[in-house]
Amino acid sequence: MQRSFTFGGYETTVTMTSRGRLWNALDDRSLLVADANTAAYLPVDRRLHEVPAGERAKSWPELERLLAGLLDADLTRDASVVGVGGGVVCDLTALAANLYLRGCRLVLVPTTLLAMVDASLGGKTGINFGGFKNIVGTFYPASEIRICPETLTTLPEREYRSGLAEVIKTAMLGDESLFETLEQEPERVAARDAAVLERAVWSCLDIKGSIVEADLTETGVRAHLNLGHTFAHALESVEGLGAWSHGEAVAWGLARAMELGGAAGITDGAYARRVRELLERYGYRVGPLPEAAQQIRAAMQKDKKRRGDRPRFVLQRELGSTLVTEVDSALVDRVLRGEGRRDYG
Ligand code: GLY
Repeated sequence: MQRSFTFGGYETTVTMTSRGRLWNALDDRSLLVADANTAAYLPVDRRLHEVPAGERAKSWPELERLLAGLLDADLTRDASVVGVGGGVVCDLTALAANLYLRGCRLVLVPTTLLAMVDASLGGKTGINFGGFKNIVGTFYPASEIRICPETLTTLPEREYRSGLAEVIKTAMLGDESLFETLEQEPERVAARDAAVLERAVWSCLDIKGSIVEADLTETGVRAHLNLGHTFAHALESVEGLGAWSHGEAVAWGLARAMELGGAAGITDGAYARRVRELLERYGYRVGPLPEAAQQIRAAMQKDKKRRGDRPRFVLQRELGSTLVTEVDSALVDRVLRGEGRRDYG
């Protein structure tokens, strides 16, 4: 199964395939980039550049080491750099592929649910720098994305649930029927039922793909993909990396976005309740953290300062109706103090 997207002049072909076919027709000269966690998936006869596991791979020294690896491998522009792994490996590999020879062929093989439905598609590349996540990066869509859903059967539970929060977010952005499946079939979702997952991954790719086709460089509608993320990023930075997985923080942020939308008179109350119930059904922590309210607020301010813009939030009127808007700071404080739920009951 295959889909193609065009992101500002770049064509990305996504193929869903089996493990046995994952490496078919891959140029012999290609260089794979992966961390030790994905070693089991890699073909033995390919050249490999190994990066450290985890967020520390998204660093300037590791980018430099990877660029040196591409040079050592004598990679020409038409040969492929193949990032195999989660979001960290996808972001780092894509940045190196963009910089090396001013752009060589990039193939991504996402092995986590989060990377399948989000990080691998849409061309965002990046490393962390100066204490900020993804502050250095470019837009460089992969030529090919190869997805093997079987990989998800062995994904650690926490990693799986982290990706699931992005699936919920994407359904909220524009797929009522996926949202209903998530509501009605939690057992199949929890059991990682292949048919349910394949459909969910395709739906997310279609929704994200159509948004990024309209706005690769995030000057407009692409910001909708950040639903729940202003709160999530602030929580992650306050609680420290790893205390909450990205998806756990996103789920918490989605609950806050519903409350903020309610407090601002934007979000339909019944919809906000529906979202909260869904998040709770999947076991996410969605209660407010009033004891951390001030720190979270400060982290939001810091993030805003870095972007140099006014405080703007991605909110929803209802499923599929998303907007980016300024919100009175007093309402944000109210939500962070834990008073937001009163606004939609
Ligand atoms: N992960 C959000 C985006 O790709 O824009």
